[in-house]
Amino acid sequence: MHDPQTLNERFGIAGKLSFREAAAGIVVAEIDNAQAVASICLQGGHVMSWRPKSQAEPVVWLSPLAKLAPSKSIRGGVPVCWPWFGPHAKESGYPGHGFARTVPWNVTATGSAESGATRIVLELEPNEQTRAMWPHESRCVIEILVGETLKISLVTDNLGEDAFVIGEALHTYFRIGDIADVRVLGLDGCAFVDKVDDGKRKTQEGAVTFDGETDRVYLDTTAECTIEDPRLKRRIRIAKDGSASTVIWTPWAEKADKMGDFGPDGWRAMVCVESANALDDVVKVPAGERHTLAVEYRAETL
Ligand code: BG6
Repeated sequence: MHDPQTLNERFGIAGKLSFREAAAGIVVAEIDNAQAVASICLQGGHVMSWRPKSQAEPVVWLSPLAKLAPSKSIRGGVPVCWPWFGPHAKESGYPGHGFARTVPWNVTATGSAESGATRIVLELEPNEQTRAMWPHESRCVIEILVGETLKISLVTDNLGEDAFVIGEALHTYFRIGDIADVRVLGLDGCAFVDKVDDGKRKTQEGAVTFDGETDRVYLDTTAECTIEDPRLKRRIRIAKDGSASTVIWTPWAEKADKMGDFGPDGWRAMVCVESANALDDVVKVPAGERHTLAVEYRAETL
């Protein structure tokens, strides 16, 4: 069910949550409550933007050139990478970062939490193509709580008779003042795979800072990360659960130009800090069991 009128009748919350067709065939849930504003695209179960009302600037960044089109991923927001992260291990023709971010998801529930946050729950809708790429009985659900903090839980149920292995990420683009000025804390001493240096394994020393394309998978880390942003005079805290990898990515100028959907200098205003289970940290989900990757984001004024 992807018709905004029916969705509004069934799941709308007066003055707080409504659905609209943002582009042909693309429905977006708009949330505006006392604490925050956010947009969530039903295709991909994709949080496109989030701004707590204490902040002048969004905390989750959406590219000004983000394209909303059927089966296309959206540049910015919180792409859901599932059931694999990066290239598929065996099939080079399968989509990078899995298919979850480009298929429709169904709304299964909405509501208001006691904290005042607005809740929306979406379930990935499998189709013939996704079943061919992922022949496992599974359920993938995302629960999003929009308030002074943004909470997202990505829940995978194994409904089959055999275990399966997933890779996944909440591939969040955070809005920052300028990439050259921010530091990411929380990864000191962590081993990482450096994807811009032939996949070499290295160890982080101190905070992560940026002076060129950066694409790293930090392994075996459940630590909270913090983005310190002197320009926007704030700190973004990224807490996570059920995630053993943290991916840090910024394309820098040349790659962003080639990608074509960042907008002029858009790459300077974002950094991806992704809560993931990738490479050595993929997750085996036994038959009948559940795995949950959860995050909570919070902005604090410096
Ligand atoms: C990151 C990867 O997570 O996502 C990068 O580590 C990749 O290698 C980036 O370029 C963006 O991916 P995409 O498919 O959304 O352009």
